Amino acid sequence: MYVRRSRAELPGVQLYRGIRDAILDGTLAPQSRLPSTRDLARSEGIARNTALRVYEQLFDDGFLVRHRGAGNFVAPQLPEHLAVERLPASGAAPPPVGPPRLSRRGTRLAPLALVSWAPALPKVAVDFRYGPTAFADESLQTWRQYLSRAVRETTPALLDYGAPAGLPELRAAVAEYLTRARAVECRPEQIIIVHGSQQALALAGEVLLDPGDRVLIEEPGYPGAALSFLAAGATLIPGCVGPAGLDVRTLGNSIRRVRLAYVTPSHQFPTGVIMPLAERQALLAWAERTGAWIFEDDYDSEFRFGVPPVESLQGLDPERVVYAGTFSKVLFPSLRLGYLAVPPALVAPFHAAKALADTGTGGLEQRTLTSFIRDGHFDRHVRRVRARNSERRDTLVEALHERVADRVEVLGANAGLHVMLRLRNVPLEREAELIASAERAGVRVYSPVLFYQAPRQRPEAELVLGYGSLDPDQIRSGIARLSRVLREFERPLRAPRRTRERG
Ligand SMILES: Cc1ncc(COP(=O)(O)O)c(C=O)c1O
Repeated sequence: MYVRRSRAELPGVQLYRGIRDAILDGTLAPQSRLPSTRDLARSEGIARNTALRVYEQLFDDGFLVRHRGAGNFVAPQLPEHLAVERLPASGAAPPPVGPPRLSRRGTRLAPLALVSWAPALPKVAVDFRYGPTAFADESLQTWRQYLSRAVRETTPALLDYGAPAGLPELRAAVAEYLTRARAVECRPEQIIIVHGSQQALALAGEVLLDPGDRVLIEEPGYPGAALSFLAAGATLIPGCVGPAGLDVRTLGNSIRRVRLAYVTPSHQFPTGVIMPLAERQALLAWAERTGAWIFEDDYDSEFRFGVPPVESLQGLDPERVVYAGTFSKVLFPSLRLGYLAVPPALVAPFHAAKALADTGTGGLEQRTLTSFIRDGHFDRHVRRVRARNSERRDTLVEALHERVADRVEVLGANAGLHVMLRLRNVPLEREAELIASAERAGVRVYSPVLFYQAPRQRPEAELVLGYGSLDPDQIRSGIARLSRVLREFERPLRAPRRTRERG
């Protein structure tokens, strides 16, 4: 009996599956004879037509053969693609399932989980999450209009593949913006539109690194970069970030034979340090001497508060620096648009890598962004969010000053959309406990633990606070709550040495 009278499946489907599975698991041996369609219909209690259609399908799929005048038989040999599907005979143990056979790269990739999206956490009164921006109000309204217009004006020609390196008008607009705002030295041909900085990092790994190559990264630093280089098979060399960022002059022999150095000189992630000119020059001189490439990740330099603009590192050595920027911070992350400005000598391999990765970035968003920039909305938006973020940043700094002043060291408040706090009187071992307590008090703050490759050396707990999506009232309320929680955890970290009691 093959048909089980389940309401979920039609009798024909059940019959087909039943006979097929019986053939695959050997219950129906090769060349065994099957009943006529009339007998089958009777025994299964189905219409004869259904039995006929099922046999036809089984013939077509290679499970059955017909011998003229003699009837229907199981095929002597199953087609190869079906033989692999052979099921174990009923009752027999299934064959052992081992780990899938992966390439070396696939094996490396599996444990490298980059978490850039936030899983849905319970709502708290104030969430200092780093990442979301304040792309709202007027700009969002304009963006919607531009996006709808781009949809309305779409023609069949615009639905075709585009240039893998990006829409020429957008590459020209980005080159113009970078030259004007970031002192990047580049022509439109050097610009490649990518799916955010993350793709820029992946392409750099492909074009510039071989497995085993050494890559200098910042410690602490951006995990998206570290993971991308690990995926390329590189060995990471973490260089400690000091008050002047990464200073190659202090790294000695550890940076011998380095192929590539990854830096965020305009606003180090996560400490927020701005790399001074002397350290920039030392880095470039070292790269020149050793032949290393430099990857400059300029992810949020549109936001700079009360400090003079720093020019890009790329502008100082356009032949050696691969420059990457993103619209994730200044516009919004789900746009997945960013750009590379590569040295002239690297244009061809980077173009090839981008073309092979995805044959290019989506046309609709590129066209929307091009018009948004061309009509002056991008510049207006940057001015607006810079002013808004500046107010948020001032509120945060003021609130910290009022509530926790000398108990906390504030790092990186001159730029970007986040600050890092060193809690002078809370030991590192209690960081997780403090974060859990803060959560219970309605304020979510974040540990920078994922930004370190090695165990932290400093004794004090640290926090990262993003403020780009919080309004001033929320910021004040969040710091008030955090300050109350801090009190429960504080004790002098370097307790005076006990003098032995004389007895
Ligand atoms: C240092 C750094 N680089 C780049 C990015 C942005 O990456 P993407 O452009 O892929 O969104 C981030 C985002 O958090 C970042 O912190």
